[in-house]
Amino acid sequence: METRLLTSHSDDLVQAAGILSAGGLVAMPTETVYGLAADATNDSAVARIFDAKGRPRFNPLIVHLGDVAQIDSFARMTPLARQLAQAFWPGPLTLVLPLTPDAALSPLVTAGLDSVAIRLPAHPIARAVLAAFGGPLAAPSANPSGRISPVSATHVLDGLAGRIDAVIDGGHCAVGLESTIVDARGEHPRLLRAGGVACEALEAALGQPVQSHAGDQITAPGQMRSHYAPRGTIRLNADTAEADEIWVGFGPDTGSRKDQRPPKGLNLSEAGDLTEAAARLFHILHDADALAGPEGKIAFAPVPEMGLGRAINDRLRRAAAPRS
Ligand code: TXA
Ligand code: MG
Repeated sequence: METRLLTSHSDDLVQAAGILSAGGLVAMPTETVYGLAADATNDSAVARIFDAKGRPRFNPLIVHLGDVAQIDSFARMTPLARQLAQAFWPGPLTLVLPLTPDAALSPLVTAGLDSVAIRLPAHPIARAVLAAFGGPLAAPSANPSGRISPVSATHVLDGLAGRIDAVIDGGHCAVGLESTIVDARGEHPRLLRAGGVACEALEAALGQPVQSHAGDQITAPGQMRSHYAPRGTIRLNADTAEADEIWVGFGPDTGSRKDQRPPKGLNLSEAGDLTEAAARLFHILHDADALAGPEGKIAFAPVPEMGLGRAINDRLRRAAAPRS
């Protein structure tokens, strides 16, 4: 299959919606990362997502909607969900909600769970595609399963060219990290995945603490320990790089390699800005992977565990985890 490269022109977006209506796969930019979209009501279209990505079938997908009014046909909004939706939608927040019994969704989307993850993306291209398509789109990140998430159309093509119908080139993703996932089924929010909305922002909007499920515990079914992985190995919280390592700094670099000053390497944010570091993280992982090669080594400077730093560290820990 040849993967078509589409632009953000309205003709191309209408074409993208046509491909989706016909059961095809289209990678589209969102403000977080590129998503691999398919008609969430069409079993064979959703099955093609799993095949294209090599994704385990038990890992459920996020349903993307253009309009909050569409939710009622799939899920029940809780008071907590309403509060979060008001504050953060459209945007990089996914809510896990109770699935309605007669929901018109392929069961592959929810992997047989009685809950469903829903997001209203803010990116104008994603919104235009959703509006033209007119229904729910299932969309995981547009990368082969377990690999680094794509934040440009080139990243998508590097991983999935020939396996999907089209990719819409919308430039770089502004947030650069996947959405924050919150289980909003109960009275109290539970953080299932740190992401583009910082936990502190959730707490400020809700006026209550957000229970976090950090560490190794797999809470969202897709939170595999090894994920976002480059081909080589990663060492975290390094003070300096060894001679055979690619260095990735954070903040002003004062000497990344014992033998080289000024330092040579990459930097998540020379200013030590966590928002900038989040936006650059997957670019840097892709670049470091290309520089280091298949057996290469990459050393990361410590990133503070606060704000978006938590999501960055979550992705880095998974990228560094032993492969299963
Ligand atoms: O920013 C994002 O969220 C991107 C863009 C494309 O929207 N999408 C994304 O999808 O990151 P994906 O498939 O890579 O991650 C979806 C996560 C998985 O960890 C999955 O297990 C979790 O959402 N998930 C989906 N449905 C769930 C459910 N009902 N309960 C708990 N977790 C769920
Ligand atoms: Mg993913």
